[in-house]
Amino acid sequence: MKLKELKELTQAKLLKIYGIEESRSIFHLLLNEFLGIDVINFHINGDKKISLDSLNLFNEKISLIEKEIPVQYVIGHVIIEGLKIFVNKSVLIPRPETVDLCNWIIQKKLNDQVILDIGTGSGLIALFLKKNSNNCVIHAWDNSEKALRIAKKNAKQNYLDINFNNVDILKKHDHTIKFDIIVSNPPYVHKKEKNLISNVVLKNEPSEAIFVNSDDDLLFYKTIINFSKSHLKQKGIIYFECHKETINQVKNLLIINKFTDIEIKKDSFGINRMIKANSYGDA
Ligand SMILES: C[S@@+](CC[C@H](N)C(=O)[O-])C[C@H]1O[C@@H](n2cnc3c(N)ncnc32)[C@H](O)[C@@H]1O
Repeated sequence: MKLKELKELTQAKLLKIYGIEESRSIFHLLLNEFLGIDVINFHINGDKKISLDSLNLFNEKISLIEKEIPVQYVIGHVIIEGLKIFVNKSVLIPRPETVDLCNWIIQKKLNDQVILDIGTGSGLIALFLKKNSNNCVIHAWDNSEKALRIAKKNAKQNYLDINFNNVDILKKHDHTIKFDIIVSNPPYVHKKEKNLISNVVLKNEPSEAIFVNSDDDLLFYKTIINFSKSHLKQKGIIYFECHKETINQVKNLLIINKFTDIEIKKDSFGINRMIKANSYGDA
């Protein structure tokens, strides 16, 4: 079979699940990862036949995609701004809006600060901040042991030093460290929104990373803001990724709790997605 015939055949399969753009992108991601053929090579060599072994390998991967497994889990990693981040079903697949949040945080030079990432998952935020800072001590917490295993692997593979801890932020704990920055992308989708989430996400990504298991959608924000009142240093900064529908409620929580200089920022899709605020601090 010629490469361009493989593309047509694959796209016909993928279009049952994905739109045209995404199907094309998945085809090229898999072709690059498993057959070592990048987009340029594909266009130059479209008429070349592929070996039976390559075809079998490729079809094996496509059959996983047809079972609605996300391409990132099939490949096993994502590359984000030079970081190779391993992902599997234990961790949320890093989203572009979270990379936007990271880029926002590093707009302010990070030197010699102590930073906490709550709900670290794959470790994306912690790793990104460590890579783009100077002499900062980064702590990263999650209550999923499986997620922490992946995050630790990611820190090791990227030669970054992070202090990981298994902490359930909703439970009482006795950490006494004070932080210059606390950042979190907590679970923020309400259970009643399940019908708006794609099957690919629902069937694969950890639901405890996505959904707030409470009737109070703001549970994590309330808990983390309360925690920050005693664990952020004076003039410390808190950053959150938020649901576009509840970001103004998070803003109100910050106001009520006497945070100052509150700023909401749009992600690269133009959606109000992240918020930051300064602590009045008492430390
Ligand atoms: C939306 S994911 C964010 C993952 C990663 N920080 C990112 O931005 O890609 C939320 C994370 O919070 C963790 N989490 C959920 N409940 C938690 C709790 N009670 N305490 C600590 N972490 C929790 C989940 O395991 C998950 O890794």
